[in-house]
Amino acid sequence: METNILDAVHALTRSRLTVALTGAGISVESGIPPFRGPGSLWEKIDPTEFAHIDAFMKNPARVWEVLMGAMKKVLDTARPNKAHLALAEFERRGLLSAVITQNVDSLHQKAGSQDVIEFHGTFATLVCMACGKATPSEEIGLESLPPLCACGGIYRPDCVFFGENIPMEALGRSREFASQCEAMLVVGTSATVQPAAMMPVLAKQNGATIIEVNPTPTPLTAGVTDIFLKGNAGAVLSRLAEAIPIPARG
Ligand code: APR
Repeated sequence: METNILDAVHALTRSRLTVALTGAGISVESGIPPFRGPGSLWEKIDPTEFAHIDAFMKNPARVWEVLMGAMKKVLDTARPNKAHLALAEFERRGLLSAVITQNVDSLHQKAGSQDVIEFHGTFATLVCMACGKATPSEEIGLESLPPLCACGGIYRPDCVFFGENIPMEALGRSREFASQCEAMLVVGTSATVQPAAMMPVLAKQNGATIIEVNPTPTPLTAGVTDIFLKGNAGAVLSRLAEAIPIPARG
């Protein structure tokens, strides 16, 4: 067995409290493009023009036409992949306490994960900006953009735009987990967006073992990561799930 997989197995089976931090990379194998890197969303669409709250408030129709409409089509049909399923299995086996995700695609929940902290909110719910009514995204069609609530108000996705704060509860719970965990699995994030990218640093400062899964190194890899598992999340996490022995019953 590869040394780093073995090291990761030891770290995960020894740890009494493990959390995962995930990013767009974990959903690439579900057909959702990442935000950065070759073929990514921000290569095609300027986030300052279409993913900042000021841009949305100034011209919601344009943001829906250029960005949100396309995202909704992909997110409404995406299915969890082997990586999401492996993390859900780790939770069932008592190896993982929670997933802190930067993703708004609900794929961890669709894979069966119970404790998922949606650090950047979710696209699964649209909220009317006039009356506050929340509606499952799948119930809202894209015939006319921006989609309107029965009250005439404009719907916005319940996710965090640039320029907006992280939901208090998500931030509080994430900080708590990061400062108490003994191991953190960091999967498929470029670790460039704050405050999410701070969580592995906080965990490291509190003595946790940082296990990073990514096909390419990130700003964490050199100074924060203890065990770097190079590769795609689906293959690496399935490999890890196979390598962790299931304790004999009784
Ligand atoms: N498996 C694992 N990692 C992968 C895979 C894969 N199959 N494919 C790509 N990656 C890695 C890339 O190497 C990169 O490091 O996933 C990372 C994706 O980085 P980003 O696209 O920057 O995504 P993320 O870190 O989640 O972005 C953070 O930025 O745009 C905002 O709000 C948005 O939540 C997002 C935040």
